Amino acid sequence: MSKQTAHQKIALVTGANKGIGRAAAEQLAELGLTVLIGARDRRRGEETAAALRAAGGDAHAVVLDVTDPITVLTSDPDGPFAALLPSAAYNPSKSALSALTVQYANELRKDGFLVNAAAPGYVDTDSDNHTGHLTPAQGAAVLVRLATLDADGPTAGFFSEDGPLPW
Ligand SMILES: NC(=O)c1ccc[n+]([C@@H]2O[C@H](COP(=O)([O-])OP(=O)(O)OC[C@H]3O[C@@H](n4cnc5c(N)ncnc54)[C@H](OP(=O)(O)O)[C@@H]3O)[C@@H](O)[C@H]2O)c1
Repeated sequence: MSKQTAHQKIALVTGANKGIGRAAAEQLAELGLTVLIGARDRRRGEETAAALRAAGGDAHAVVLDVTDPITVLTSDPDGPFAALLPSAAYNPSKSALSALTVQYANELRKDGFLVNAAAPGYVDTDSDNHTGHLTPAQGAAVLVRLATLDADGPTAGFFSEDGPLPW
């Protein structure tokens, strides 16, 4: 194993087969990370991973439904994400998500994890019937920035692309 491979950064993106998640996956792959394409549907995940590989990235599909503990826990059982993935099984209100972010940030700080929440803006995707005014790539930018923070970066925060937001 080369030194470079030993230090390869890995990103797991849920909902990576379309919309903001896919745009984030594309940008992370362009930055040179290995990207795990989390998708509920195996075929859609494989197609997305293949498209990213065709563009020169290192991407691999994993079946992952965040409401299904079985797929969450088996998607990367030995990987660095295992401890964090169950958090995605909630379907929280914004206030619950805020509380969860701060709670996980405080619990995981000692292990070197940064936990932040992002507001992508109003993005043109299927989820809003394409009424958003930002492209998925623009919406994904803040996610990618937070996912690639240095170890001494902020934690327990809420950010848009323009900077910190009040909870
Ligand atoms: N668009 C906006 O303006 C906006 C603004 C603020 C926040 N957000 C948030 O950003 C996230 C992505 O939204 P989007 O606009 O990019 O929507 P989107 O284009 O509809 O994409 C949603 C993605 O999430 C996946 N997904 C849905 N339920 C899932 C589950 N149970 N487990 C795993 N994956 C699941 C979908 O997979 P399938 O293809 O299998 O359905 C799809 O890949 C959402 O959490 C949304 O609330 C969006």
